Amino acid sequence: MADHLIVETRDRVGILRINRPQRLNALNDELARDICASLFANDANDAIGCTVIMGSDKAFAAGADIGAMAEWNYAKVYGDDYITKDWEGIRRVRKPVIAAVAGYALGGGCELAMACDIRIASETASFGQPEINLGIIPGGGGTQRLTRLVGEGKAMELILTGEIIDARTAYAIGLVNQVVPAEQLQAKTMEIANRIADKSPIALQLAKEAVKLASRSNLDEGLRREVDLFALCFSTEDKDEGVSAFLEKRKPAFKGK
Ligand code: CAA
Repeated sequence: MADHLIVETRDRVGILRINRPQRLNALNDELARDICASLFANDANDAIGCTVIMGSDKAFAAGADIGAMAEWNYAKVYGDDYITKDWEGIRRVRKPVIAAVAGYALGGGCELAMACDIRIASETASFGQPEINLGIIPGGGGTQRLTRLVGEGKAMELILTGEIIDARTAYAIGLVNQVVPAEQLQAKTMEIANRIADKSPIALQLAKEAVKLASRSNLDEGLRREVDLFALCFSTEDKDEGVSAFLEKRKPAFKGK
């Protein structure tokens, strides 16, 4: 793994730290590919229950790498299947992913944070889709995920003006789950990640899949599929363990089976 992504594990939590300080963690295809490859590796690793993606104090990620875009034309971007090929792999990640955001989360950086399941922001974080200032539009899911998170009116305003908002505003409009003082970002994120990583791995994946249905299907289909996924839980040893542990007043020991 190149040093633009630092990968580690703490307890049952996988940590991916974006590390391109000279470009404010701007994302390119290689970095997007490595982030997705690491997420898939964590999916396949029974010792990991949840992944946290973070950047530096200054930038989660300041967007797609604008330098790389200078020479591109339509044929290259469309022909290479830019974004879908390397960036959207995160959609297929089954275990929970949390974004711990400090500093800039702009353009593709904001889109990466939105592609995560939960977003914890430092008070220093700022968010925006400033692509319009470059004469382009968001291409990493911004128009779709921002609209689902904050509603069409606010998404339209942010995408059309390119305005950058602070963490408190992002919280107020529903873009982030929590805002914490900068010095507490890691501890708070790890607390949530550890709490999630201790649950039944199968139930976590089924729960994530079920929640995702809400934005991918209509209510009838979503409810039907939720019931199927709910029933599936009753075929797992983790369900027997969770229920027994409750009745025996002890902590469950989930095995992902
Ligand atoms: N791509 C490439 N390089 C970037 C970058 C980006 N997205 N953002 C910052 N950098 C580079 C700067 O060019 C600069 O490099 P040099 O030191 O070699 O000049 C270095 O990082 C530090 O940046 P600044 O000097 O600009 O730092 P600042 O604190 O004055 O400003 C900023 C910070 C407001 C984030 C500003 O850098 C900025 O506006 N960056 C661009 C943000 C942006 O437009 N993002 C959207 C990109 S397009 C996209 O993401 C498409 C998509 O949907 C996938």
